[in-house]
Amino acid sequence: MLPVGNPATGNDFIDRERETAFILDTIEKDHVMLVAPRRFGKTSIMRNIEKRLESKHRPCVFLEVESINSPGEFITDLVTALIECEGASHKTRVFSALKRMFTQVPEIIDEIETPVFRAKLRSHLRAEFSDDWHEKAKKIETIFGEIANPVYIILDEFPVAIQNMEDDDARKFLHWFRRLRQDSAKVRFIVGGSVSIDPVVYGVGGTPVINDFRRVNIGGFEEDVALSVVEQVFQEEDWEYSPEIGRAVLDCVGDPYIPYFLVIMLSGLKEEADISEGVPSPTLVDRVYNKRILGSEGRHYFEHYSRRLQVTYSEQEAKTARAILSKVSVADSLSMAIAYDIFRRNYGSDNEDAFRALLAQLNHDFYVTSETPGELRFYSKMLRDWWRIYHANIE
Ligand SMILES: Nc1ncnc2c1ncn2[C@@H]1O[C@H](COP(=O)(O)OP(=O)(O)OP(=O)(O)O)[C@@H](O)[C@H]1O
Ligand SMILES: [Mg+2]
Repeated sequence: MLPVGNPATGNDFIDRERETAFILDTIEKDHVMLVAPRRFGKTSIMRNIEKRLESKHRPCVFLEVESINSPGEFITDLVTALIECEGASHKTRVFSALKRMFTQVPEIIDEIETPVFRAKLRSHLRAEFSDDWHEKAKKIETIFGEIANPVYIILDEFPVAIQNMEDDDARKFLHWFRRLRQDSAKVRFIVGGSVSIDPVVYGVGGTPVINDFRRVNIGGFEEDVALSVVEQVFQEEDWEYSPEIGRAVLDCVGDPYIPYFLVIMLSGLKEEADISEGVPSPTLVDRVYNKRILGSEGRHYFEHYSRRLQVTYSEQEAKTARAILSKVSVADSLSMAIAYDIFRRNYGSDNEDAFRALLAQLNHDFYVTSETPGELRFYSKMLRDWWRIYHANIE
């Protein structure tokens, strides 16, 4: 069975050929930002990019920055990761430049292959950087500016690190980081995170500090890939597979086939089959969907979609968004005219720009899509079903 929550790596990592090829191509010229809600598979893709770059012997570091609280910590972890990466396999000038720059590092460099190395280096650097990070930041700029061959830096949970910083630090850091990207011709950043970056940077520099990133939307699997995942799991579990049962699972998830939604269906199916000692049938699939996914025990899968409205939208926007989503969840699709009417009643204004901005935000955050011009639909069928049960009629 595929992991239910942890990033999918190795043999568990399925497909994403198109996204991977696009990202690998894009980072030749641009920095990349992966955009998708929680659990869409960003970390899995970034880990796969790391693997692909390593297989081409391209220096690449992967940094999980969720627990970083200050610019100094960010620089510390970055330098640690770069030195470690250099020591492990790739010899470029970054390593020697970093060694020269952070003078005391050679003392412990001999231990580079030992388990204590990372901890020692980090605590050494954190002590050094605890004073004023600007000076060290300038050194990084100098080193990065001189890099001759491409170096790739992957930052997972980047928006959380920015959120964790004091406002003034975050503002200065984002400006510095923007300049660093501009002046480092050979360094490419790939960033991702489970909270949207825009509201995070809104008060600390605004979009200009991140507008050089090429945004890559991560959506669902193609239908044939999704079907092959179902078939593969059935084979692993020794269950008899039929196109009918494959279809039944996919119909619950709905197109686009978000990997995590598919996996929670399949793992629910396994639990239910174990309990009832039954062989998965379309009836069992139905039971799993209604009980384990849409029932109260599945609530935690989707709750953050509802909470996010409270956290990242203004009160007025969240109230209006809820009213619109409530209507879209009960109707197959909603015309813009009706959506605008709901907007006017709930937002307390007929400002068309504000209406369009709110729809753009809901679209960007993967709640709705308007693929058919003039019509709104829920992006995910599964989320729509959940929303209809728990949030419809709250206006
Ligand atoms: N390419 C994939 N192959 C197989 N399963 C996947 C794939 N991508 C995502 N999944 C499924 O989705 C789950 C979440 O994936 P991942 O942790 O990569 O998402 P994420 O977007 O980084 O999540 P978060 O926002 O919580 O950090 C995995 O545990 C797995 O069940
Ligand atoms: Mg992740």
